[in-house]
Amino acid sequence: MSRPQNLCILGATGSIGRSTLDVAVRHPQRFRIFALSANERMDELAELCQRHQPRYAVVAQTAQAEALGRRLSPGVTEILVGPQGLERIAAHAETDCVMAAIVGAAGLVPTLAAARAGKKLLLANKEALVMAGPIFMEAVRAHHATLLPIDSEHNAVFQCLPDTFSGKLDGHGVRRVLLTASGGPFREATLEQLQHVTPDEACAHPNWVMGRKISVDSATMMNKALEIIEAHWLFGAAPEQIEVVVHPQSVVHSMVEYADGSVIAQLGNPDMRTPIAHALAYPGRIEAGVGALDLFRIGRLDFAAPDFARFPALRLGYRALKEGGTSPATLNAANEIAVAAFLERRLPFLAITAVIEAVMDELRPRPLANLDDVLGADAAARRQAALQVEAMAD
Ligand SMILES: NC(=O)c1ccc[n+]([C@@H]2O[C@H](COP(=O)([O-])OP(=O)(O)OC[C@H]3O[C@@H](n4cnc5c(N)ncnc54)[C@H](OP(=O)(O)O)[C@@H]3O)[C@@H](O)[C@H]2O)c1
Repeated sequence: MSRPQNLCILGATGSIGRSTLDVAVRHPQRFRIFALSANERMDELAELCQRHQPRYAVVAQTAQAEALGRRLSPGVTEILVGPQGLERIAAHAETDCVMAAIVGAAGLVPTLAAARAGKKLLLANKEALVMAGPIFMEAVRAHHATLLPIDSEHNAVFQCLPDTFSGKLDGHGVRRVLLTASGGPFREATLEQLQHVTPDEACAHPNWVMGRKISVDSATMMNKALEIIEAHWLFGAAPEQIEVVVHPQSVVHSMVEYADGSVIAQLGNPDMRTPIAHALAYPGRIEAGVGALDLFRIGRLDFAAPDFARFPALRLGYRALKEGGTSPATLNAANEIAVAAFLERRLPFLAITAVIEAVMDELRPRPLANLDDVLGADAAARRQAALQVEAMAD
């Protein structure tokens, strides 16, 4: 029998990170926890290190490293610091598989490092692909990385595509990709009600348990906007080949429509351990700890068109994709600043997308040739978004 795969989890203390550990430890003969990273939740990281005894742990600051070192048995886990530490574990010669589960733009550089090192790369950090799509996909191609989507929608599309799929929808008889969206906690809210939404209400997703940033993205439907761009890069889908379908039960995770009229869907309980297990074991299948789908209990599946007036983030997602260049990086950075301001109660809910649109209007797209262009666009959008937040603050 072959040795277990060495697993590196970027963002191990988060929702996806913990679900990944939950699946991986069910299969100790297949996976070894090789490296873990965290940013702020040091108690959680210490506990994960004690339990899984990884070779490496990465923290954000030297003081955290010193404190963590005092809590761990000597000689087991080497503690690394900062972005260089993240890049090192992602590209480490002994790392077989990288789960990219840092939230936001902070995940870009280590995720790209994993692609450039030709790793099996499980991509939850959609923001990395949104910001740097062409550069990221070129790195995957040039270094023969195996890129597997973790977002439940993209993982579903991947499962519905033929085994011969080669990165472009054309040539496979595919007409459209249908991305399902739960509609978030405010699917039926009026614009008037949306004006008074609080961070806790926005983070209370009806179907999924997620980190706070993606929960707010779900509530504004910016999450779906980012996923439209993600689908473009992962599947070579043109903007008009990507359709969003509101599906409140979150049972159909997405669909692929073929030229002959067939629509293939992937179904399952709304539990991220399913796509994680799919990607970890790909092309095989493993137990994920997820219960059987009870269709009799679910009873019905509903579908509806999205409302672009109440959820303008969708329009901004298509706009950024069509504009191309630095536009998706601008959209993403402005969203991160606006969401952080909303979570800190400095910005009303409806102003999140207003900030983003104002930043996109201000910073016209430029061509994207390298990582510096991406990071430059990200920094400029953050500065501009901070000004807009000040102008629109409560
Ligand atoms: N949750 C879901 O169901 C889901 C589904 C599909 C896709 N995704 C995507 O998966 C990614 C992770 O989402 P999540 O819900 O797991 O988020 P989360 O619960 O907030 O976890 C984020 C992780 O990233 C770490 N982190 C945050 N800021 C960082 C920084 N500046 N540098 C290094 N590490 C940092 C956090 O560390 P600390 O906790 O120690 O601060 C944590 O480990 C996101 O891109 C999201 O869009 C999530």
